[in-house]
Amino acid sequence: MAIVVFEAEENDRQYLAARFLGEDIRFVPEPLTTPEQAKRVAADADVISVFVHSRITPDVFAEMPALKMVATRSTGFDHVDPAAALERGIIVSNVPTYGENTVAEHTFALILALSRNLHKAYVRTSAGDMSMHGLTGFDLQGKTIGVVGTGHIGLHVIRIAHGFGMNVIAYDPYPNSTLAELLNYKYVSLDDLLAQSDIVTLHAPLTPQNKHLIGAHNIGTMKQGALLINTARGGLVDTVALISALDSGLLRGAGLDVIEGEEIFSEEKQLLGAGNMTEEHLRMALRNITLLRRPDMVITPHIAFDSTEAIERILATTVENIRAFRAGTPRNMV
Ligand code: NAI
Repeated sequence: MAIVVFEAEENDRQYLAARFLGEDIRFVPEPLTTPEQAKRVAADADVISVFVHSRITPDVFAEMPALKMVATRSTGFDHVDPAAALERGIIVSNVPTYGENTVAEHTFALILALSRNLHKAYVRTSAGDMSMHGLTGFDLQGKTIGVVGTGHIGLHVIRIAHGFGMNVIAYDPYPNSTLAELLNYKYVSLDDLLAQSDIVTLHAPLTPQNKHLIGAHNIGTMKQGALLINTARGGLVDTVALISALDSGLLRGAGLDVIEGEEIFSEEKQLLGAGNMTEEHLRMALRNITLLRRPDMVITPHIAFDSTEAIERILATTVENIRAFRAGTPRNMV
């Protein structure tokens, strides 16, 4: 059984090679994004494993006729076309719970960077400037945090927020009143959450229905001076609307671990090399470069999951997923 692992870092290679010793397992450092690539390196693959920068579209699937399973080394699976997988009878498995604490901790890294101007202070002190001017932050204690999506990660964010003495409100289309009582938070509508929160943090999956969950239609209803934090998926936030809200002074800042079109950064070389950078790609790339330079934004390159402990859990679950599939008892199917 041929296994091809895309987006393979050295530690992925070492861990997985040791667990599939003597088997046909191949490692590709790049994400899988084009049919040509699929044909070149995975035409005979029975199983592929990808991370979030791959794009498994129907035409990519079409070049891997032997494929039976996609093991994504992530919780989110919006980078794998579900209809095409279903049509071809391909099993897609994910890693559902490797890092609720890991992503929640990073969420607070972004919040604290913005609330205490850590990013600005760092740049200043790196240049030998120890002045305090303009670095006054704000307390989290007593502020209201609005958690959008109360799944594994959202609930962990709620627990941490209580440690800071924050009030917690939440929105989820599938509310869990028992947990709300147990963890001391209140469900409200998305509109109320946006209007009442000093910090809005997103922890919902990206689906075709909730693209631009925060966009021009509702961003203007957010509380004056609020922060928007997104460690979920870039497509949940309309970047153009976010920039306007920051420019107008409505929002104080944004902390983003994920950005709409972030894959363009990692694919930049491929896109430019292949000469297939579309006008929309260019527009998004320019917009994202502008974001990187803003002092009211803290951006990290999709690393909320990226702790030693979480990666170990991701790889262990991926190995179990592939072994279970081969034993005829697939698990963690999405
Ligand atoms: P989960 O599946 O445990 O929870 C998601 C929650 O969102 C569920 O309670 C669901 O009912 C809710 N939800 C669904 N649609 C919604 C909507 N339109 N509005 C509000 N809530 C909605 O998922 P988990 O583990 O908490 O992860 C959340 C997301 O975080 C993932 O889907 C993934 O995209 C992202 N993620 C990002 C990582 C990173 O490194 N930046 C790492 C891991 C996950």
